[in-house]
Amino acid sequence: MNRAKSPHFRARPCRSTMSGAESETEPFVMIIFGGAGDLSRRKLLPALYHLFADCRLPADFLVYGIGRRPYTDRSYRELVSESLKAFVPDLYKAKTAREFAAHCLYEPGPSNDETLYQRLCARIQKDSKTRSNVLFYLAVPPALLPQIVSGLKKVLFCHALENSKIIIEKPFGQDRKTAHQLNAMLLDVFDENRIYRIDHYLGKETVQNILFFRFGNSIFEPLWNHKYIDHVQITVAEDLGIGHRGDFYEQTGVVRDLVQNHILQLLSLVAMEPPVGFEGNWIRDEKIKVYRSVRPVTGKTMDKNTVRGQYGPGRIRGISVPGYRGEDRVSRHSNTPTFFACRLFIDNWRWAGVPFYIRTGKRLPMQKSEIYIQFNQPPLKLFGPDSNALEPGGLMLSIQPEEEIALRLNVKYPGMGNRPHPVTMELNYTDAFGTVSRPAYERLLIDTIKGDLTLFARMDGVEAMWGIVDPIITWWDARPAGDFPNYRAGTWGPEKSDRLLQKDGRMWRNFENDQPGVT
Ligand code: BG6
Repeated sequence: MNRAKSPHFRARPCRSTMSGAESETEPFVMIIFGGAGDLSRRKLLPALYHLFADCRLPADFLVYGIGRRPYTDRSYRELVSESLKAFVPDLYKAKTAREFAAHCLYEPGPSNDETLYQRLCARIQKDSKTRSNVLFYLAVPPALLPQIVSGLKKVLFCHALENSKIIIEKPFGQDRKTAHQLNAMLLDVFDENRIYRIDHYLGKETVQNILFFRFGNSIFEPLWNHKYIDHVQITVAEDLGIGHRGDFYEQTGVVRDLVQNHILQLLSLVAMEPPVGFEGNWIRDEKIKVYRSVRPVTGKTMDKNTVRGQYGPGRIRGISVPGYRGEDRVSRHSNTPTFFACRLFIDNWRWAGVPFYIRTGKRLPMQKSEIYIQFNQPPLKLFGPDSNALEPGGLMLSIQPEEEIALRLNVKYPGMGNRPHPVTMELNYTDAFGTVSRPAYERLLIDTIKGDLTLFARMDGVEAMWGIVDPIITWWDARPAGDFPNYRAGTWGPEKSDRLLQKDGRMWRNFENDQPGVT
């Protein structure tokens, strides 16, 4: 086997980074199970490379790829370089990529092979001086988690790996029960404060900004409650279909894939109380309280409050696309939902009576994630008949692809009359900061290396989020939809989704003409 000598690195001559503090990470060893897989090649290695190129990594770090494929250290480094060239072409510089790849090593072996863990342990002890910051990243299908965790359990007795951390990707279980079992298995080996459950939405700059916006200004927080807010809408729309993930999606469906995690995280950030301080556990404590306060959607209220959909064939930006049942590795009679909308209530002091409308789906007309807060209409029609033109004020926190915050207000239309007119005040991230946000994985990886759990899901939070969606999934599974496919690709979902709001006298935000959500 071609094995490189123990690596010794000289510090990269780095200019100072944008924020000095961020470059101060401890030496680390990251072991990526699935190191040659899709997630690693597309996201993890590019993110580490960019951090390296930006001088945010210490001189002393190693990345081990682990996998079944028989790479050597040398051929793995070639794979790393090729992946960077393919997936971050704009940032790719051959010399920097070579320097980065020199930190990468590979250990082949199936994850059920006990000797893999012993070899790994011996290699780390030989290759690295680092004993205190070892991270295991499980970029593998969920079915492999138990054998890897049990393999690690044995090596943890290897003194080099004490205090190591584990990073896992969603799905965290298939329901509350399996999430609990997964947590128990992880906790058997790692303390909760060494388990990093990645929800990449939490690494997005615009998502992190929600708490800064809410608690860094005194303007909005006094209004942030049932007295001034009419309703909240959370949209996570995707124009993409399911790509080559038919097998995965058939097992998962939209609620497990996006609602149980990303959307409920957004909900908690919008709805939570101010935390005691800006510290991981305090923030996560407040999120849990939100999940506990969500009024359960159960059998009797299911039809009134939830809508499911599945896309049929259609056109997106003029291009014909197949329906879900025509996708690769999807049953021709599939009952899997690709669209979800619902109305939730948070039964606590702040939010009593305020509906939170949520919608998400594949093959909608555009990619758009946004949180929209609609304020109440003014109490009096002061401007006579022209008052009918008054729009309710609204705040748009746009998560992607536009990264911006916009406030919709009424002003006087210039001229002799007294006509109110809606205008929009906008803060665009690129205009304000002159830089585009960094990919979520960069922030999340740096935080795992530094040991900051703030942007990661905690065990009780994950289980509580399952508690919200489990009854919906169970109800639907027991009642196959007779009307699938019930929306055309390239439209905003089934008609029932519009009716969900219309019966409350409201409507979804219309992104095509940027209108607020009121009929
Ligand atoms: C993933 C889901 O977690 O998030 C995908 O599995 C989805 O189905 C993706 O497309 C959306 O992420 P983003 O960052 O593109 O909004």
